[in-house]
Amino acid sequence: MSTVYGRRIKQLSRTIQDNLGDMTKVTEEKLNGLKTIQSFAQQTKVVHEYNQEIKKIFNSSMLEGKLSGIYFSGNGFLGNVTMIGLLVIGTNFIGRGDISIGDLSSFMMYAVYTGSSVFGLGNFYTELMKGIGAAERIFELIELKPKITTSLGEKVKDLTEGDIKFSNIRFNYPSRSDTPVFNNLNLGIKRGEHVCIVGPSGSGKSTISQLLLRFYDPISGGVTVNNHDIKDLNLNFYRSLIGYVQQEPLLFSGTIRENITFGVKDASDEEIAYAAKLSNAYDFIMEFPDGFDTYIGPSSTGSAQLSGGQKQRISLARTLIKHPKILVLDEATSALDSHLEEVVMRNLSQLSREKTGEITILLIAHRLSTIKNSERIIVLNNHGEVVEDGYFSVLYSDPDIGFVFFAAIWGVVVYGPVTSWVQLSHAPAARARALAPSGARLVPVAGGIRITARG
Ligand SMILES: Nc1ncnc2c1ncn2[C@@H]1O[C@H](COP(=O)(O)OP(=O)(O)O)[C@@H](O)[C@H]1O
Ligand SMILES: [Mg+2]
Repeated sequence: MSTVYGRRIKQLSRTIQDNLGDMTKVTEEKLNGLKTIQSFAQQTKVVHEYNQEIKKIFNSSMLEGKLSGIYFSGNGFLGNVTMIGLLVIGTNFIGRGDISIGDLSSFMMYAVYTGSSVFGLGNFYTELMKGIGAAERIFELIELKPKITTSLGEKVKDLTEGDIKFSNIRFNYPSRSDTPVFNNLNLGIKRGEHVCIVGPSGSGKSTISQLLLRFYDPISGGVTVNNHDIKDLNLNFYRSLIGYVQQEPLLFSGTIRENITFGVKDASDEEIAYAAKLSNAYDFIMEFPDGFDTYIGPSSTGSAQLSGGQKQRISLARTLIKHPKILVLDEATSALDSHLEEVVMRNLSQLSREKTGEITILLIAHRLSTIKNSERIIVLNNHGEVVEDGYFSVLYSDPDIGFVFFAAIWGVVVYGPVTSWVQLSHAPAARARALAPSGARLVPVAGGIRITARG
């Protein structure tokens, strides 16, 4: 009986843990998305979903309760019936003179001892099973081996003294093994270069930065920095040299100062102010009564008490104060208006000029104001292929190219000298033709059309 119950209770214990996990997931997600839920007026639906999760836990706990009830009451019932039976039979034996009262008493005593020990053992076994059921989940997690370890590998001194190369990269995300992001990506970024990657949404721009930071390993091919395969490097060391700013800034609850100095041990006020000025955050921070000591809430709950653009600038300052050797900005200034963004971009260009060769900047962007301060532009198409790759200066001075980057799907036409760049929401080929200077030649390229100044 204990074995059957034990096995069942082990399963149940595990189910309860699973259900608890599901409920936590739903709770966290829904609480974080409170404003979205309210704006869609979907509170009832969400509460219903939450209730479903609660019900799942309730049902499994109820089942556990019922099973325990049956098991313990069954055990108790059996024990008591046995005792009564023994007493009746024993009394009969005494009446017939087969045994004495002393014999019965001592027999009963042994029977109680034995019974309760067996019951205790059964109890122990079932409790153990309950524990094992719940612990299985935890052990599964503990035993998970990370594919990418962060603390092993070399710490190479001359790492940032060379170029970054993506060679023959084939990659798909583990969760979507049937949709490749890159089939054969080759990309070289020279040391100290200021590069901008543009392309339609979903073309793999962010994936490039994820691969560079080695959040994922490519299926084949590799990423090298100064000819060192990043797979051989100590990841914590390597990542400490990279400044990575994402589109969605995640700030922590605390003061602005604490947020900016998150990645550095002790930063002076000058350094903090310098980083804030570079990211164009200084002025708005100083407008707060408490300046750098202004308290902000966690951004995960949407209560960071700052605008999207302010959060982005603080998260940029947090990265710049680290003096990264490689700076990766993945649409990191997308929430700023064009003017503010341009100031940040100019600051970065200046930084890259001042520190020639010391900082490599990789921008991922889609706005003109972000793009035009970069030295070199790489355009990806929808299939994760590089369709354009060129230096502004070269393109600008070559009258035959009259440089153009046009991705029809992306909806952006870029041609002629910088001043006549045109941006369209949805640019069909006919529109491109109409916009192109007379005598220009339109050449279809993967993912778009290239317009050259002369036919
Ligand atoms: N974590 C992920 N898991 C599975 N697929 C992903 C993940 N992140 C992105 N993708 C997919 O990979 C492709 C490239 O995405 P991404 O690099 O984010 O594009 P971009 O930054 O150019 O908009 C898209 O098709 C996207 O759906
Ligand atoms: Mg992206």
